[in-house]
Amino acid sequence: QAVHLSDYTPPAFLIDQVALTFRLHPTATRVLSKIAFRPNPAATDRRFFLHGEQLRLIGARINGAPVSPEITDTGLTCAVPDGPFTWEAEVEIAPEENTALEGLYMSNGMYCTQCEAEGFRKITFYPDRPDVMAPFDVRIEGAAPVLLSNGNPEARGEGWAEWHDPWPKPAYLFALVAGDLVSKSDVFTTASGKNVMLNIWVRPGDEDKCAYALDALKRSMVWDEQVYGREYDLDVFNIVAVDDFNMGAMENKGLNIFNSKYVLASPETATDDDFARIEAIIAHEYFHNWTGNRITCRDWFQLCLKEGLTVFRDQQFSGDMRSHAVKRIEDVLMLRARQFREDNGPLAHPVRPERYVEINNFYTATVYEKGAELIGMLKRLVGDDGYARALDLYFERHDGDAATIEDWLKVFEDATGRDLSQFKRWYSQSGTPRLTFTDDFNDGRYTLHFKQETPPTPSQPEKAPQVIPIAVGLLNPNGDEVLPTTMLEMTEAEQSFSFEGLSTRPVPSLLRGFSAPVIVQRDTTAEERAFLLAHDTDPFNKWEAGRTLAKDVLMRMVADGAAPGPAYLDALRAMAGDDALDPAFRALALRLPSEDDMAQSLFDSGITPDPLAIHAACEKLKTAVARHLSDLLPRLHDAMACPGPYAPDARNAGRRALRQAALGYLSRLDGGALAAARYAEADNMTDQLGALSCLLEIGEGAAEVAGFFRQWSADRLVMDKWFALQAGLAAPHKAASVARSLTEHPDFDWKNPNRFRAVIGALATNAAGFHDPSGASYDLVADWLIRLDAINPQTAARMSTAFETWARYDADRQALMRGALERIAARDGLSRDMGEMVGRMLGAK
Ligand code: ARG
Ligand code: ZN
Repeated sequence: QAVHLSDYTPPAFLIDQVALTFRLHPTATRVLSKIAFRPNPAATDRRFFLHGEQLRLIGARINGAPVSPEITDTGLTCAVPDGPFTWEAEVEIAPEENTALEGLYMSNGMYCTQCEAEGFRKITFYPDRPDVMAPFDVRIEGAAPVLLSNGNPEARGEGWAEWHDPWPKPAYLFALVAGDLVSKSDVFTTASGKNVMLNIWVRPGDEDKCAYALDALKRSMVWDEQVYGREYDLDVFNIVAVDDFNMGAMENKGLNIFNSKYVLASPETATDDDFARIEAIIAHEYFHNWTGNRITCRDWFQLCLKEGLTVFRDQQFSGDMRSHAVKRIEDVLMLRARQFREDNGPLAHPVRPERYVEINNFYTATVYEKGAELIGMLKRLVGDDGYARALDLYFERHDGDAATIEDWLKVFEDATGRDLSQFKRWYSQSGTPRLTFTDDFNDGRYTLHFKQETPPTPSQPEKAPQVIPIAVGLLNPNGDEVLPTTMLEMTEAEQSFSFEGLSTRPVPSLLRGFSAPVIVQRDTTAEERAFLLAHDTDPFNKWEAGRTLAKDVLMRMVADGAAPGPAYLDALRAMAGDDALDPAFRALALRLPSEDDMAQSLFDSGITPDPLAIHAACEKLKTAVARHLSDLLPRLHDAMACPGPYAPDARNAGRRALRQAALGYLSRLDGGALAAARYAEADNMTDQLGALSCLLEIGEGAAEVAGFFRQWSADRLVMDKWFALQAGLAAPHKAASVARSLTEHPDFDWKNPNRFRAVIGALATNAAGFHDPSGASYDLVADWLIRLDAINPQTAARMSTAFETWARYDADRQALMRGALERIAARDGLSRDMGEMVGRMLGAK
């Protein structure tokens, strides 16, 4: 039942107008639809098919006359007249019984929807595909005080409301919300002088946690006007926070629906990271109004058209709001942790996949984050001006369209005159390219020889060379930069680039700013890395030099028990103590590579990773760092205090992050005394959670864990943190039992995706605990995935990626991990979502 990109055909019918009436009831909501269809002149197919799942058809009419369509599990067909006609249907659905959180469902007594990708077919019969776009009129009848849908409010009375959305949209952007909600509101005046009403709707009691999101929204609106020339296009912009949500948030036209954890924030309940994520996701969903909604996707294979671009835009925005250097490092950390992991395992797929069984399984790091990297590379290749011209042309040419990657690349070709046929391989080839290099120097000429190679990935044994923008700079041995950042364009499998007129052999700084999503493999000496760490002018590569040093040290510690050498420790010390550097940057530099990252790196260099040995090495290195920096740490900790009331801005957040890093190392020297004191005096969640995690990391903090629970048991989002911290930081041999007892806690509401992720997801990210040789964690995760799959396939399938790394490990662990996957695969009634995921993970040997 797979769908293929190559099988695309245009829709048989187009829609001029949709009118929907909802008569809300928890177990028997009636949905009345009236849809004006007309044959699509561009189609050859004449068959009338409407998607529909789990709907009870009450009655249907064509041009007013009753019809009896033929209904299957996936939809209906019916004989229709030649030419345009009106379809009317009445169906019944049960939102309260909808645990999959897709379509119309209920969360804490509130009605809400999630239609992307294919949830609208659980609301009514409809051509549920993104290339069918129509204006919607919606009438909601229900007892709730607040009744919302897309577009502009048209009319309302006691128990009903009507909405009109003038912008043609695909069904996946439909939304409805009804409930007892309160709003925090403001007015935004667009560049052309139109007033827009902004509302953030939340449950009563949460209204004091909306200010930051509202402010982020206004900043996003200004930014999109100034940077992309994009104005908002309706009279109102509504955002609703819901507690039960499979994903982060959703860009429904004029009515964004958010997981409440990405809206609600107060200093006492949200951390600096939460604030930053809220800012980014508010921006992301808002930016979709143009990149996603006004210009949407022709089919779901084109998902990266809107997601890669919109992620790229939100990254630019966050960089502008905070720090570009820090944002880039954080984005690359995340890309490597999630996308490289995916790209180097059985779930590897192209940024534009060519085949899927369940599209929800392709809302991945590859589509989103690697998709964003491709936009960044395009911008680097055509320059800022070329990018701006291409984007202007994109909005001009494709406004109102359901577009493709071909359309997207064509605007770049037309705006810049560049041939992008080779670049297009980035969209179709999966896997992470490996870039190796050697260099030589004679007679003042310095030459870099590069070689690119992409390992085989599922169904792609051979790869062709890709266009790789390599940003390089050259430094003199005295530390001066002799060549400022220059963009090399590698297009061949092997290619050399020379630089003339140099008096001494330079030290190269390669892939500055992480100019392409590749893995650079090089045998550089620790001294050269330390040199770059001290002298590189590119902040990303300065950080990267420290990172690779740390990885080398850890590799040697794991492989032959070596003690950490002085090169890394001295360099780290110099960086940490350098007050000219941004505290946020120093905090990142003090963070060690993750254990999962180390496992992948070891595997890549031919060593079977042992998660326990990696964990032990990381612990040992942390203690060595703490000792080596023992005099510096208290000074750093005290200097980074943030006096005055908590403010979530980047400067204060950076100082707190550095202070927290210092506290983490200090706790290894003082047994947690300072962290316990900091915990007791904390007046914001960043400090409170930070101190608590320092304690848990060294096996302390039992009293604080209990106190935290008493303090916060009424706050769902804070309780998620309480669950996640314990499962995520439990010692390796205890992790499974800690997680199991958390699942037995009365507040473990496993049907709530955030709570489920807080325990089961956190256990899966506790590398040494998850890979405990007993297999206890594998079993626990598999048991819960099986249980969740029966009620919420989408979230269960997504979390099955915990097992995607099985091929890295030793035979015993492989057998246990595969066994867990096989046990899931063998279940009766497995969802299509989960079936596809475990099939792909087991299929690639
Ligand atoms: N478009 C949403 C976003 O990027 C994500 C929706 C994902 N939905 C899904 N069913 N996979 O913000
Ligand atoms: Zn998105």
